[in-house]
Amino acid sequence: MKPASEECDALADSAREEFPSRVPPLDLPRFLTREHHRIHLVGVAGSGMSGLAGLLIELGHAVSGSDKVTTTETERLQRLGLRFHDQHRPEHADAADLVVFSSAIKSDNPILVASRDSGKPVVRRAEALAAIMRAKRGIVIAGMHGKTTTSAMTAHVLREGGLHPSHYVGAEIPLLGTNAHWDWRGEYFVAEGDESDGTLRCFHPEQSLILNIEEEHLDFYADLAAIEKVFEQLIDQTSGTVFYNADDPNAARLCAKRKGAVSYGFSEEAHYRGIDVELRDFGSVFCVDRCGGKLGEAILNVPGEHNVHNALGVIALASELGIPFEKIAASLRKFEHARRRFEIKYESDRFLLIDDYAHHPTEIRATLKTARAMGRKRVLAMFQPHRYSRTKALCREFGSAFDEADRVVVTDVYPASEPPIPGISGQTIVDEMVKRGHRGASYQPRFERVHCDIGNALDVGDFVLSLGAGNIHEQLSILAADLVIAEKLKAVVGEEGDVRLYEPLSKHTTLRVGGPAQFWVEPRNEKAFADLIRFCRDENLPLFAMGRGSNLLVRDGGIRGVVVHPRGGDFDKIQVNSSEITAGAGVKLREIAYAARASNLGGLEWMEGIPGAVGGALRMNAGAMGAQTFESVTRIRYLDAEGNPHVNDRDELEVFYRRFPLLENNFAISATFRTQPAERAEIDSRLRESQKKRRTTQPIAKSAGCIFKNPGNIPAGRLVDELGLKNSRVGNARVSEVHGNFIVNDGGATAAEMLQLIDKIQSAARAMRGIELETEVEIVGEPE
Ligand code: EPU
Repeated sequence: MKPASEECDALADSAREEFPSRVPPLDLPRFLTREHHRIHLVGVAGSGMSGLAGLLIELGHAVSGSDKVTTTETERLQRLGLRFHDQHRPEHADAADLVVFSSAIKSDNPILVASRDSGKPVVRRAEALAAIMRAKRGIVIAGMHGKTTTSAMTAHVLREGGLHPSHYVGAEIPLLGTNAHWDWRGEYFVAEGDESDGTLRCFHPEQSLILNIEEEHLDFYADLAAIEKVFEQLIDQTSGTVFYNADDPNAARLCAKRKGAVSYGFSEEAHYRGIDVELRDFGSVFCVDRCGGKLGEAILNVPGEHNVHNALGVIALASELGIPFEKIAASLRKFEHARRRFEIKYESDRFLLIDDYAHHPTEIRATLKTARAMGRKRVLAMFQPHRYSRTKALCREFGSAFDEADRVVVTDVYPASEPPIPGISGQTIVDEMVKRGHRGASYQPRFERVHCDIGNALDVGDFVLSLGAGNIHEQLSILAADLVIAEKLKAVVGEEGDVRLYEPLSKHTTLRVGGPAQFWVEPRNEKAFADLIRFCRDENLPLFAMGRGSNLLVRDGGIRGVVVHPRGGDFDKIQVNSSEITAGAGVKLREIAYAARASNLGGLEWMEGIPGAVGGALRMNAGAMGAQTFESVTRIRYLDAEGNPHVNDRDELEVFYRRFPLLENNFAISATFRTQPAERAEIDSRLRESQKKRRTTQPIAKSAGCIFKNPGNIPAGRLVDELGLKNSRVGNARVSEVHGNFIVNDGGATAAEMLQLIDKIQSAARAMRGIELETEVEIVGEPE
């Protein structure tokens, strides 16, 4: 066994310096792999620390750990014997013989401070891992991109090759069972080496596999030269063979000079060379040559050219360890991805949703290239930058990394324990993209809205990717779950119907206010509407009918469930039958007024002044010019809550001023209106009168019509006027100066502002006149 390198000692010293103690020198490899102790891990929930905890438990130690978060991994470890504490309290580590801490832990952590004071040995995660590795024949997989996939692939191929390797990788690998495992039977230990904090230099492996080297982690390293120094040391400390990617200029420059180094890649000089590469949707097929002689064909079921590279590295390493190529190829074929590595979240002929951990510009470019090659129509991406320092250092590179994506929504930076850097946000990357001419980039500072921005832009044939090392995959999971329902809804309303996700309801209300509808559905006929009602009932989905949105105030959080918008097809039909006019729920009242005029039928001229459609007018018994909808209705057709159709004559219906209870739980399909034959001139005169009244007494601005019902003794508009509230405002919501019962949106007003203004008016009416103003507009949806 080699002595620990000076640099790693220097690191250990620096840890001791930060936490000076009376620590006796420790033979760490022996302490960790041949003896049994009590060990406490500070920051045990981290992906690297939890793997180490698992190894230590398997090695027979009594392991405790502390972290401010609990994860499924800490829960799993607790079942294996970890004593877990969700706070960092010194007494929890009192009995420990050794304390191991994660790089994310700050030096003033109370356990570290107490351990320092009591002279307890304290080491970094990588030091402990490197010491454990010394008990076996170590294989370190290092590089900026692809470490987790390649180390998992190596462990899997060695395992299938009967070598019983132990392993330690940075993520959950379903195929391997756990992210770390100690196998007493085998000689090898495969570990992902983390270059981010310089601890790569702690390792003294027998074999190293160098994937790629480029600028990264510039929060820790001064420049590329400093990064290369760490890699060079790892190479120097490798006792056996160094394997390296011949196509990566930096890796090749550092490794080629090393005696006995083995290269792999596509370049002609590579010892293990991939040729005739055929990329497929979810994998690839390629042939492998070794020094000019054909080894055979390999099939991968993980996609992308970068994974062909990774596999070539594994083929080179496993072959040199003596595993026959056929066995390697058979294992590679079975290899499945780590979580969050091009993980399929939803797949159908119409849509494909994939999550990937890519967070460095090079990784993003590779992932998008793979996505593009899969031949779907468009590629849409949601991206969460990871760390302020990386966003700042690589913002130019990020600006060009998304060229293969048609649309990109960038949210804010996932800090990963970093404090914010002023002026650095998701906007920084969008600005760079726009500067470079990207036309589809937008910034969404509100994380929880990212899925809405992408979901609403979805079109058949789209490929959606979530990219980032933080928690952006949660947004893709929400989208995937909703897309499953949206696809079922689409099947319900058929080819001619329309289904959209997260449709902004501000687009569909005359007030131009309101958050998104989770599912926006437009059936085109009665059967589709009835099927939709039954589907929603069976699936327990709330269903809300919305017409022209002229009398509606939707809250900023939007509407959960299905918003049905009966429009187009049968719902837009008008039929004139002698003196009766039948119109579908989607027909605007104004159109009925003019259809009547065309047939010289009068009595419906008041409809000219109402912006809504039949469904809404029925629901609220809308009115103007002293007339009300139900004064002209002879019968209506509607669907009940079970989707069954009914026709009722007017005298069977209970109707009130601005209220028609039947449609609170049922859905209008059409209505038939009574008219009287009239002279065209007489009709025109009444239409003009209505227009004039509207133009002279009502604002043209964006509004929802009258906000309040007229209370018995005074019109609401006059009351508001008398209270002196005209032109009063909350944000961009303002009481119209033209009519006191109208609140107008001066541009960009929110529902919250509207509601505050309504409240202000109601309070004033109550306080000053003892009048309870009841809203006429329907207020629906969720607050934000
Ligand atoms: N008035 C004022 N100051 C104002 C507004 C009105 O003094 O700022 C006075 C008017 O001069 C008039 C009286 O209040 O003497 C009533 O006003 P208006 O004639 O404008 O009628 P309204 O009752 O306010 C109703 C409907 C409107 C419909 C009009 C025209 C209600 C709650 N409103 O308004 O319907 O367009 O008649 O026929 O019944 C709607 O329901 O959304 C709607 C706009």
